[in-house]
Amino acid sequence: MIDFKQEVVEAIFEVGNGLDKEEIESLIEIPPSYDMGDYAFACFRLAKTYRKAPNLIAKELAVEIDGGDCFQKIESVGPYINFFINKAKLTKTVIDSIRERGTEFGSTDIGQGRKALVEFSSPNIAKPFHIGHIRSTVIGNSLYKIFKFQGFDTERLNHLGDYGTQFGMLIAAYRKWGDMEAIEADPINELLKLYVKFNEEAEKDESLKEEARYWFKELENGNEDALELWQWIRDVSLKEFNKVYNLLGIEFDSYTGESFYSDKMPGVIEEMEQKGLLEESEGAAIIDLEDYGMPPALIKKSDGSTLYTTRDIAAAIYRKEHYNFNKNIYVVGSQQNLHFKQWIKVIELMGYDWADDCVHVPFGMVSLEDGTLSTRRGRVVFLEDVLEKAIASTLKIMEERNPDLDNKEEVAKEVGIGAIIFQELFNNRIKDYVFSWERTLSFEGETGPYVQYTHARANSLLQKGNFNPDDAIDYALLDNDDEIGLIRLLYKFPDAVIDALDRYEPSIITRHIIEITKAFNKFYNSCPVLSAEKELKSARLMLVYVTKMVLKVGLGLLGIKAPDRM
Ligand code: ARG
Repeated sequence: MIDFKQEVVEAIFEVGNGLDKEEIESLIEIPPSYDMGDYAFACFRLAKTYRKAPNLIAKELAVEIDGGDCFQKIESVGPYINFFINKAKLTKTVIDSIRERGTEFGSTDIGQGRKALVEFSSPNIAKPFHIGHIRSTVIGNSLYKIFKFQGFDTERLNHLGDYGTQFGMLIAAYRKWGDMEAIEADPINELLKLYVKFNEEAEKDESLKEEARYWFKELENGNEDALELWQWIRDVSLKEFNKVYNLLGIEFDSYTGESFYSDKMPGVIEEMEQKGLLEESEGAAIIDLEDYGMPPALIKKSDGSTLYTTRDIAAAIYRKEHYNFNKNIYVVGSQQNLHFKQWIKVIELMGYDWADDCVHVPFGMVSLEDGTLSTRRGRVVFLEDVLEKAIASTLKIMEERNPDLDNKEEVAKEVGIGAIIFQELFNNRIKDYVFSWERTLSFEGETGPYVQYTHARANSLLQKGNFNPDDAIDYALLDNDDEIGLIRLLYKFPDAVIDALDRYEPSIITRHIIEITKAFNKFYNSCPVLSAEKELKSARLMLVYVTKMVLKVGLGLLGIKAPDRM
């Protein structure tokens, strides 16, 4: 595709008397409206070099510049030189490029030869997989797809929370009140009950906490009974989690959880010792981070058991050795900001220059309309329930709207799940939000089903119009404002994807495809397609075709299916 911004740079460079290209590029702005051009070059900073007023510079340069056939107009307005893209040229380059690249439109090879790890979801076993987990799961999956799309060799890691004092708690609770049969029948709920009960009792009776610590220590020491129980809890939990991952259409390349690092801990602690980082504090081993304005990192407890932080440090070192990553991304809630700052600092203090390649991608909290989620008190909304409900209510809507649709169940799943993922990825990830059933199940306005429906409508137009993507068209016929408006958005799609990657922000893509969807519907309402005369009809069908393609690619990067019928 022609890079028009680069064409502006080249055109100015030719007449710029030694201005370098990077500088030129930094002076190019996007005007607030298209009547002022597609790009504007600001001449303020040139006043010194040219010893002239910016207005005058703009005026003189505008005359000298030769934009070739890329621009239909180049004019100066005050201190700016405005560039108007040649619309026929824009239309042709966009359409040809989408036609040629198909579902690869917007991908690049900027990640070639580079390894990116995306760690996401990472729920704690024996705990409900609740609505709070959807964020990391869905944002992470999208980032994985975006990185892969840009040529990175990318791996999906699920750092299961399968270790820590809470397993001491569960083992102790199971030994007191556990009922194997009940757990087999309904694992997560029964384990949750045990967990809640244990916490309640422990508030009255301190010694229970001691017991929990004892059993975790036994687990770390390899006590067989403890290990067997733990392994069983892990298995049943993973089975439950996989139901949700299947519904969401999400897979992982590794489920290496915290426990995996258990035997790597002594080596790491020794390394910290040798590097002179460890200090003793009330029997525990810590790393002082006062110089960096942070509380100390707790590395080892006084009873010798290791901590969450230590396991993250060991995991990062292992990942560097095992994968030799260029980027090691963690999609984890903003409540853990300090935790990530601390351990990444420790990695740096250990002398590892790749500390900079470890990136925490935080996101805001989900709460319920009547307060916060709390596993400890058993206040949870199960993610599986949310997904099943969304599918069921979509099916109901479809039975009303389109009762003759084939494979209704399959489509209801794609649309119901799509609605949830889309809503999740619509807002800037850092924002907190309140979960609402009503909003999640609504199909009106800027939602996933709206985009999917538009995609399906485009498909039906193509079928009715007997469209053939190899047909030749007259590009110049697509010249009204609604057509050009849509084409401009398609042109900017690849930039939106790169932006999403640079900022670890899938919502940039979500927003962009909503814009495309709106522009498409505007075009569809103002420009007849099937009833247009032959040449115009072919050209418009082509625009329908390329739009459908970009919507499909965009939805795909979010982890959402694009059914052809709904
Ligand atoms: N299991 C943790 C939790 O549910 C999240 C793990 C995040 N990843 C990490 N490497 N610390 O809070």
